[in-house]
Formats: sequence, structure tokens, C-alpha cells
Amino acid sequence: MNQYNLKGIYKDIWLSLENAVVDRNSGFHTFTLATINNGIPDTRTVVLRGCDKKNNIFSFHTNNKSLKIQDISINNKVSALFYDKTEKTQIRISGIAQIFNDDSYCKKKWNDMSKQSKQCYYQNIDPGESIDSPNEVKNILDDDISKNFTIINIEITKIDWLYLSYSGHTRAKFISEDNFQGKWIAP
Ligand SMILES: Cc1cc2nc3c(=O)[nH]c(=O)nc-3n(C[C@H](O)[C@H](O)[C@H](O)COP(=O)(O)O)c2cc1C
Repeated sequence: MNQYNLKGIYKDIWLSLENAVVDRNSGFHTFTLATINNGIPDTRTVVLRGCDKKNNIFSFHTNNKSLKIQDISINNKVSALFYDKTEKTQIRISGIAQIFNDDSYCKKKWNDMSKQSKQCYYQNIDPGESIDSPNEVKNILDDDISKNFTIINIEITKIDWLYLSYSGHTRAKFISEDNFQGKWIAP
């Protein structure tokens, strides 16, 4: 990690995210996704499922009936917060979310998923619904792709990077307007 080189930092951000898609032990494997619900911010943890530096996107999977889908359908501006304790790095991303459901992109991803992951999308009661007991919820896996399976791609508009160090914290921002050249900011 070269904390004093903007180009190197930008490259490292993508390398860390690419690694985190496959490395369950990476602190960046999960992130906090913030959406706006009726003008009020809401957050939740999701798993980083893909990232693509060339197209400037990263993605996660979710249930189409979940509340975050309603939020994104109304306001597609989202924020994603990553923190890796070992890397001593926080990555705060602003972006535009795009919903993919019941299409060839979803089918391709679905075929690569484990049985266990697929099962989550066959829940008999929609996420967030009130229930009398946790026993009411069942997941019965079908052969076919679940209509609930949804991919969210987030197109990045801004990255705020913060590295914690005894010798002095460093912080930089990378914005789409200037093609992510990077600028130093005070930590
Ligand atoms: C470690 C962890 C990983 C999670 N990963 C996902 C995920 O990838 N996708 C998802 O929709 N929910 C995931 N969840 C559940 C969400 O945090 C959340 O509870 C759920 O999606 C409902 O959120 P919503 O009501 O805001 O839509 C995860 C939770 C935890 C604790």
C-alpha cells in the first residue's frame, strides 16, 4: 500500500474490492448499504458479490421483495461503506444503483450460485413481513430460478478513501467527473 500515491491508491482500492468478492475473510467482503426511505436514511449489511473496474461498478444480491428495492426504485442514489480493520482502511462510496431482476444477467449468476445461497430466495414469507413466530418461515428450493433473485449494480460517482496510520492518517477522494484522477483531502 502506497498511502502517498493517488494512482496507486486508486489501483489498490479496486484490487482490495476484487479480492473481497472471493475472500470471505476480507473486511471488505461485506459493506453497509445506505438508502433513503421516505426521506429518512436506512442502512443494512450486504455481501459484495462482484466488481468491475472497467465499467466502474460493484454489485450485491438481494430479494426483490425487500425494502431496499422499494427505496432504490424511488431514489437510486445510494451510499456504501466498507471498512477493513486489517487494512486500516475505510472506503466510502456514493453511487447510482440499478436493479436487475428476471433477466439473462440474473440467470447467468443464478447458475453459478450454491444451493444454500439459492435457498434464501425461496422464502414463503416476504422479507420484512410481520409474523407470529420464526417457525412460520420456510425455504423450499425449486429447480428453477427464483423470481425474487435480484442483482443490484452500483455505478460509482465518488470514492472517499481514508487510511489510518500512526504516522498520520491520509485521505483522498476520487470522483467520476474527472475520471477518478484523485485529490487529497484532510483526514
Ligand atoms: C453478514 C450479513 C450479510 C448480509 N448479506 C446480505 C446480502 O448480501 N443481501 C441482502 O439482501 N441482505 C443481506 N443481509 C441482510 C440485510 O442486512 C438485511 O437485514 C435484509 O436484506 C433486509 O434489509 P431491508 O429491509 O433494508 O431490505 C446480510 C446481513 C448480514 C448480517
